[in-house]
Amino acid sequence: MLPLLAPATPPELPGQAIFQKNCVRCHGANGKRGLNGAHDLTKSNLNEFGRTYLVTNGMGKMPAFGKKLTPAQVQQVVAYSLTLK
Ligand code: HEC
Repeated sequence: MLPLLAPATPPELPGQAIFQKNCVRCHGANGKRGLNGAHDLTKSNLNEFGRTYLVTNGMGKMPAFGKKLTPAQVQQVVAYSLTLK
């Protein structure tokens, strides 16, 4: 095995790409968009467990992603959502 070269820039968080594809249209890139009554994710006090449940099962106008994303993807996008400030 050849030693891997260090990438010039750190890789994006995997959850960021999932967020951009599935969540930005309502929540916005920074989580603050609030379209269709979507809550401001930067002000959410739901923890990882609560967010995982909500993203998997949906609530009100928030769609369920349990069939669209794998549990690992849900976990990654939730982890990313927790970094939005
Ligand atoms: C169709 C628009 C829409 C999309 C797409 C969407 N959401 Fe939401 N989201 C909402 C709405 C509306 C609510 C408020 C639900 C309620 O309380 O009735 C919400 C609430 C939430 C909350 C709870 C915030 C709080 O504390 O009340 C989280 C976390 C969340 N969304 C994460 C995500 C993630 C992660 C994705 C992408 C996988 C996503 N959402 C995609 C509309 C959307």
